[in-house]
Amino acid sequence: MHKKGAAKMSLIDDARKVRENAYAPYSNFAVGAAIKTIDGNVYKGINVENVAYPEGTCAEAGAIAAMCAAGERQISEVAVIADAPAPVPPCGGCRQKIAEFAGPDVVVTMATMDGKTLQMTVADLLPGRFTADHMANS
Ligand code: THU
Repeated sequence: MHKKGAAKMSLIDDARKVRENAYAPYSNFAVGAAIKTIDGNVYKGINVENVAYPEGTCAEAGAIAAMCAAGERQISEVAVIADAPAPVPPCGGCRQKIAEFAGPDVVVTMATMDGKTLQMTVADLLPGRFTADHMANS
C-alpha cells in the first residue's frame, strides 16, 4: 500500500503539535511522531539530539517509549511529520522498533509541514523484517 494524499489528519495533527518540542539543535531537523494504540490512546514523541551525536533519539522511539511506559503494547496507527520536501519515512532502526509493536497492516502516515502525505504499511516499510519467529530454534 502506497497511498498519497488522504491522510488521517487527527494523528498527524498530534504529531505536528508535539514537533514544536523537538530538541534538534544540531541537525535543525525537528520531527514529531504520534502513535495510536488499539485502546485508542495516543502517545507522542520528538527527536532528542545530543552533542555526542550518536546518543540522539528519534521521534518514533520517544513515542514508543511513552506507549510502553503507559503499559500499552499494540500500535494501531502511526504518524510522522517534519519540515521536508517530501514526507519523511521512519529510519531503518525505527521501522524495526515500530514493527515490534505493530502488525504488518498497520498504516504509517508520513507528512510534510506543507501538507504532503504518504501512507505505507509496516510491511511495505520493512519487508522481510526480523521477528521472534526467526529465533524459534533457540
Ligand atoms: N529523525 C527522526 O526523529 N525520525 C525519523 O524518522 C528520521 C530522522 C531525526 C533524527 C535526527 O535527530 C534528525 O531527525 C536528523 O536525522
